[in-house]
Amino acid sequence: DGVTVIDHPLVSHKLTLMRDKETSTKSFRQLLREIALLLCYEATRDLELTLVEIETPLTKMMAPKIAGKKLVFVPILRAGMGLLEGMLELVPSARIAHIGLYRDPKTLVAVEYYFKAPEDIGDRLVIVLDPMLATANSAVAAVERLKERGARNIRFVCLLAAPEGIAHMRDAHPDVHIYCAAIDERLNEKGYIMPGLGDAGDRMYG
Ligand code: PRP
Repeated sequence: DGVTVIDHPLVSHKLTLMRDKETSTKSFRQLLREIALLLCYEATRDLELTLVEIETPLTKMMAPKIAGKKLVFVPILRAGMGLLEGMLELVPSARIAHIGLYRDPKTLVAVEYYFKAPEDIGDRLVIVLDPMLATANSAVAAVERLKERGARNIRFVCLLAAPEGIAHMRDAHPDVHIYCAAIDERLNEKGYIMPGLGDAGDRMYG
């Protein structure tokens, strides 16, 4: 409830390759881009359509187009950028907001260092992107910030989630649906998802 685990052989296969510590930075980035396409496909499955009149080379017809304003994607820096690329391939006209957050390694509190969002996010579907939902401190802070700015319709897309992170997010923002590729076992004492894939930012950027 409130969480969709995207269960698809391509997603499972690619995720296994990403977890493998022998996978290179180059392949890791490529795989994240590919999985992002599949996550995007599911996270936008229920977008509303409206019929518009067009003319094919042969005749007029009423045909469906996505209703409402363009989406807003919100990568949480840095690792969220890896999901953004794939999402933009499927929805190239989306608007983008950036949120820079890092996790204090001791307290695991999310510290903001950058925030820039389009003015009119209140009228748009906002999709927050971060490969990892660990304690969810970052995701909760990002969504709070977006709500302060007027966002009302928010979804969260990640690759891996810890049960603790899902519980925290559901508790803090029950209105935000979570899409992920897998729910792992637990967090370790350092706040890393286990078995996980390590630090997504480091594996993408070094
Ligand atoms: C990692 C990850 C998430 C966050 C998840 O980012 O990319 O943003 O931690 O943890 P949480 O759910 O406990 O908040 P990190 O702070 O390592 O920054 P980076 O993406 O710049 O490497």
